Amino acid sequence: MLRDHSQSGPTMIERAKMFRDRLSVAALVAMTTVMSGCDTPQRDMLDTVSESADKSAWFYYMLLSVCSVILFIVVAWFVYSVVVFRAKDGVEQEMPPQIHGHTQMEIMWTIIPTLIIIGITIPTIKAIFWLASPWEANSADADENNHVVIDVMGKQWWWEYDYISPEDPDRKEIMFSTANEMHVPVGTMVQLRVTSADVIHAFWVPRVSGKRDATPGRTYPLYFKVNEPGEYIGQCAELCGASHALMGIKLFAHSTDPDDPDNYDNWVAAQQKGAQPPTSTIAERGKELFISKGCTACHNIRGDAVTNAIHPRARTRKTGPDLTHVGSRTTIGALAMTNTRDNLKEWILRPQEIKQGSVMYVYGYKLLGIEVNEEEAEAMAAYLFRLK
Ligand code: CUA
Repeated sequence: MLRDHSQSGPTMIERAKMFRDRLSVAALVAMTTVMSGCDTPQRDMLDTVSESADKSAWFYYMLLSVCSVILFIVVAWFVYSVVVFRAKDGVEQEMPPQIHGHTQMEIMWTIIPTLIIIGITIPTIKAIFWLASPWEANSADADENNHVVIDVMGKQWWWEYDYISPEDPDRKEIMFSTANEMHVPVGTMVQLRVTSADVIHAFWVPRVSGKRDATPGRTYPLYFKVNEPGEYIGQCAELCGASHALMGIKLFAHSTDPDDPDNYDNWVAAQQKGAQPPTSTIAERGKELFISKGCTACHNIRGDAVTNAIHPRARTRKTGPDLTHVGSRTTIGALAMTNTRDNLKEWILRPQEIKQGSVMYVYGYKLLGIEVNEEEAEAMAAYLFRLK
């Protein structure tokens, strides 16, 4: 060893390596920061499409402006002091006058921040109350009966949506259930009743509204009214386990124009229908496998005599997403994959590889010893993909 024993610290080479490692970490952090800035525009919370998102964006800009002004004043003052009062060559420095216990200044730097905090707090509290009950603030939406109610339940790692019948005055009766992709009408107040089946999740569609925690044992409302038709991407915003990152949300805002074939009422009507029976041999086999493998223990398929008898309110039987119209969704696995027949097959075959800790694998395949081969997965995908 050519190491200098008089030195107890690292050698030059070791230090160079440490420096290199630190540099790579710093580069990685910088890269992540920069890249998170170029997220897809669909998730930009400042590109708002609803009044409640406007409120959040307003607070963002307001706080940014207030803080920028404060930062500017502090930095300008600091730079001025450094330049003007710097040590000059050849000049003997004297201790400047000390101002400890200067009553006027003490009062000033107590009052100014207090006023700033009060100025920020008042609109914040007003907005909190407005967001909690937008009807009272919006006389145009005073009719509480004219709104869409959806029960949202966060589960590891997907979202269940129970659409509540507008005919039920108690707002309890479920029309149908779907998963991950939420559809709402444009220009109509939507009330989500958000809860969780297991751990704390958070429902967040940045362009549409702020976050709402999904907490087990509690139900919190979230209100919004989307102004523009379109597709908006969201994400579970609370670290909730292995596949938290794969707990996506897609929100479709449909027009309410009766002449538009893609309007909200048509979507609801299609979802209310039962599942289409299989028409091909392979799909028929897929359906048989779906039943014989025990998939119906967790998944509902309405109207096809598969899990028809189960009451929709029986949540315990809805461990997995309702698959009545799974083929009509654009994604599977809470946005983990695009919904294609091949991807469905992959998902059925290897859920654990696509989504770490997937309940379907851990408490289904693994615990119950269910085995699915290529041919079986192919047949089940053929059956499910046709459930439009
Ligand atoms: Cu659910 Cu993160």
